[in-house]
Amino acid sequence: MAKSWTPGRVNLIGEWVDFNGGWVLPAALPLGVAIDVTQIGGTRDIVGSAQFEGLAEAELDARASGHWADYVFGALQYARRKGWLTGGARAELSSDIPAGAGVSSSAAVTLGVLRALAPADTDATELAVLAREIENRFIGVPCGIMDQMAVAHTRPGEALALDTRTLSLQTIDLPSGWRFAVLHSGVQRKLADGRYKTRRTACLEAADQLEQEWLCDATDLSALDPEHQAIARHVTSENRRALEAIRALEAGEAETFGRLMTASHISLRDDFDVSTPEIDRLVADFLAHGAPGARITGAGFGGCIVVLKPAGAGQDWVQPVLDKHPAARLVCEIGS
Ligand code: GLA
Repeated sequence: MAKSWTPGRVNLIGEWVDFNGGWVLPAALPLGVAIDVTQIGGTRDIVGSAQFEGLAEAELDARASGHWADYVFGALQYARRKGWLTGGARAELSSDIPAGAGVSSSAAVTLGVLRALAPADTDATELAVLAREIENRFIGVPCGIMDQMAVAHTRPGEALALDTRTLSLQTIDLPSGWRFAVLHSGVQRKLADGRYKTRRTACLEAADQLEQEWLCDATDLSALDPEHQAIARHVTSENRRALEAIRALEAGEAETFGRLMTASHISLRDDFDVSTPEIDRLVADFLAHGAPGARITGAGFGGCIVVLKPAGAGQDWVQPVLDKHPAARLVCEIGS
């Protein structure tokens, strides 16, 4: 039996830049998915999950059908192509990463199946590139590389400063005394529902119109129509914020880091238009409560926010804000 454990991730800053040639700063969650894979031979794959009733079954060359187990079937198919598996397999999953919340539960599953089956010395970046290909080609979501790299390279307590253009990276320990709360807004979202594609297409169109290979490199946006200008303004400013935030993290400057997080939220809300009114209220209430920074995290359209806690704030610091938002809940805290 082959086993793996892979964390979910929360993106601290650098949103919607990972297919635009930008920098991102995700961090591992203490939550993850444990996967056991057993070769069973035959012509079908079988998937069970501690979180879902019943077993999912598929032919060895089945296409994605919109089922939660697609990520596993896709990863098993790609593992067979790599020669890491022969015939059918049975995979058992147990995950405490909330699904559909912007914290990469699906990237962790895909990467985790590959990690369980690949030879032990396989490069983590190779696994991440393969996991992204599965998401792009098998699942059909044209995502960037951030999530797969984050879950492949980081362990709880670490963040990943990643140049998504070159895949050069550095893992950074979260500075001592810094804690981030990850909270689910209670608004459920799904990535495959087309809104991700629409935003991505708008980014590529903007880059095209400005004759840039990467939208992050654009400086003069004035040739764009107002809608594309807003999209490009978010992408270019977010890349600058991510670089500044990486520097602030390394220097231990929490106030600067928090200010950049909040600026990122405002840009995602006003220019990129991927926030929701509930999430805006949640972020505003945490800022009013004394958070140095707060923002929506992941693709958006619902899901989680990430809040930098003030120094010395205890476990129950989030509670007064949660009392005003009954649908929201604390997912976990990260940091030391
Ligand atoms: C999703 C995608 C990532 C990235 C983020 C937005 O998580 O999978 O590649 O584009 O959205 O930053």
